[in-house]
Amino acid sequence: MQSSEVRIFNSLDILADMSLEWLIEKTNQQQQVTVALSGGRTPQSLFVKLRNKDWSKVKLDRLKLFWGDERCVSPENNESNFANAKRALLSDLSIPEENIFRIHGENEPVAETGRYTQVMAEHVPLHDEFPQFDLVVLGLGDDGHTASIFPGHEDLFDVPEWCVVTRHPQTGQRRITLTGSLINNAKEVAFLVTGYSKAVMVAEMAETKRTTSYPADRVKLTNGKCRWYLDKEASSMLRI
Ligand code: 6PG
Repeated sequence: MQSSEVRIFNSLDILADMSLEWLIEKTNQQQQVTVALSGGRTPQSLFVKLRNKDWSKVKLDRLKLFWGDERCVSPENNESNFANAKRALLSDLSIPEENIFRIHGENEPVAETGRYTQVMAEHVPLHDEFPQFDLVVLGLGDDGHTASIFPGHEDLFDVPEWCVVTRHPQTGQRRITLTGSLINNAKEVAFLVTGYSKAVMVAEMAETKRTTSYPADRVKLTNGKCRWYLDKEASSMLRI
């Protein structure tokens, strides 16, 4: 977090406005805008806020959506990051079907990493031989995980693979996640962190002198910009 910009927002509505501004600017500047969404509760709440905003200035045909991680479940399952994004926002937007690249959680996981690698090779511009997203949205687990890279698997920030299969440490649920090679190759990363339950981990992430390290610490963009968007609760233990 040290080398990143930290922005504290007073309400999700303000974050939704900032997100829409970014989409308007990028889809009017670029012929295509590639965004990898995260899963979890925080993006859900943001998507609901975004649903009622004015999208008329966003050139939706230029927006290509991917996922930073997905649970190995069917696309109708409530656990599915795609299903939740679709329910909360995408079903209300006219993003061309062919621009939505979900991870097929219903597929055999290892085979799906191969398929999704091919999808990214075809639809995300390469930079230094890795796909370079315009934006990767990440969350922060209260154990310091991000995407579906969990504590003890920080090595996934140094592997050549673009996406791999992981397991949630508590539930054992299999996940497919982008690796650090792609996350750190992005032009921009936005951590969205909300709620008191994250305040301790956020404060720890901001500590420069600590012996522990977490997967989220390994998000250090090669050439891009990493920003942390925190609500008041998640930032409540920061010494500012
Ligand atoms: C997932 C996410 C995961 C999430 C964090 C934070 O698939 O669950 O990718 O990394 O971003 O667990 O989740 P919350 O936003 O729900 O706190």
